[in-house]
Amino acid sequence: MSTYTVGYFVGSLSSTSINRVLAKALLRVAPDNLDFVEIPIRNLPLYSPDYDAQYPPEGTALKEAIAGVDAVLFVSPEYNRSIPGALKNAIDWASRPWGQNSFDHIPAAVIGASIGSIGTAVGQQSLRAVLSFCNARQMTAPEAYIHFTPEVFGEDGTVHNESTEEFLRNYMTEFGNHIHRVLTVLPR
Ligand code: FNR
Repeated sequence: MSTYTVGYFVGSLSSTSINRVLAKALLRVAPDNLDFVEIPIRNLPLYSPDYDAQYPPEGTALKEAIAGVDAVLFVSPEYNRSIPGALKNAIDWASRPWGQNSFDHIPAAVIGASIGSIGTAVGQQSLRAVLSFCNARQMTAPEAYIHFTPEVFGEDGTVHNESTEEFLRNYMTEFGNHIHRVLTVLPR
């Protein structure tokens, strides 16, 4: 199996983000043929079409980071039943200028954790709609709506519940398979 580099987005800017913990857990259980690099979103200005003629360094760095990976993984909270503004802003930057959409045909997956039992289900539907328009090739199954409890997830990404760890391992294995399928048909 080929090796692929996955760029992952953490949709939260919180210093105590449970989604960042989830991202750490995912990296721990991912198959060996997946390498990971975080694509940071924190320092992006708010997007405006006024930047299209000349992107600032933060916008250019974002687009170069996505161009440098084989696939993208979104690990995000749900904010008010939708996508956190910081993440939507990053997606808007990456999708422009018109005709230079960084997500075109890119293999992608979404996952998220919440303290409530809804597990970001509604936010993920919102994110999926945006990624559809951006023409990303999303993994549609398995879905993963993670109910976060500190008993199950250690801060370093260790998972203390066997069935949860197995679920996440299977999710990442399936994502690896999805990346392989997409890139076989649509090489980057
Ligand atoms: C939330 N939270 C939340 N949770 C949820 O399940 N559905 C929601 O719509 C929202 N909305 C929401 C809006 C805003 C502005 C905040 C700050 C929070 C709670 C959220 O799941 C919780 O704060 C998580 O800890 C957020 O994830 P991170 O930032 O810890 O990764």
